[in-house]
Amino acid sequence: MKAKVGVLISGRGSNMAALLYAAKHPSCPYEIVLVAANDPEAAGLTLAQAEGVPTFAQSHKGLKRAEFDRIIDAQLRRAGAEYVVLAGYMRLLSAEFVAGWENRMLNIHPSLLPKYKGLDTHQKALDAGDSHAGCSVHVVTSELDDGPVLAQTEVAILPGDSADTLAARILIAEHQLYSRTLADFVTRDR
Ligand code: GRF
Repeated sequence: MKAKVGVLISGRGSNMAALLYAAKHPSCPYEIVLVAANDPEAAGLTLAQAEGVPTFAQSHKGLKRAEFDRIIDAQLRRAGAEYVVLAGYMRLLSAEFVAGWENRMLNIHPSLLPKYKGLDTHQKALDAGDSHAGCSVHVVTSELDDGPVLAQTEVAILPGDSADTLAARILIAEHQLYSRTLADFVTRDR
């Protein structure tokens, strides 16, 4: 039996797509049972639908954080999710939601954690004069972009890189790292 994974997105959903395409390989140990978004306009929803993956969209606007998270939580559980993967999900999570998925929720962050939590990671790496930037997959805890790092990929910064060119290259690394790390994580767990 493949591990059942719910993916939370807020926008483009390219990491979700990478996870989904990797899941098509027969040897992949996980399957995606739900893609949920806090923005009904999230482009990733269209892609997931076209691939036949169940989707759920609910705007968080006007709802209290915990209240909104309970709605998402109920959808994940209804879909049979055993793991939650955050993929460009731009919402802070309530403590209850995090506790309910303790050690079963992963996030990807475009920096070499513990460096540069939060936003604007690529510009921060450039401003610091770093030789390398990169991405990290970590277990989600109640602190933003905190929690044990499972895997990282270093990406060399090139002369003339802007935040955008660097982000585009790191995204290539993200797409490979996330699926592999999730596969290892669910395999180790079972
Ligand atoms: C990625 O860079 C991810 O690391 C960050 O937000 C971006 C989401 O991109 N958390 P996408 O929606 O997966 O294309």
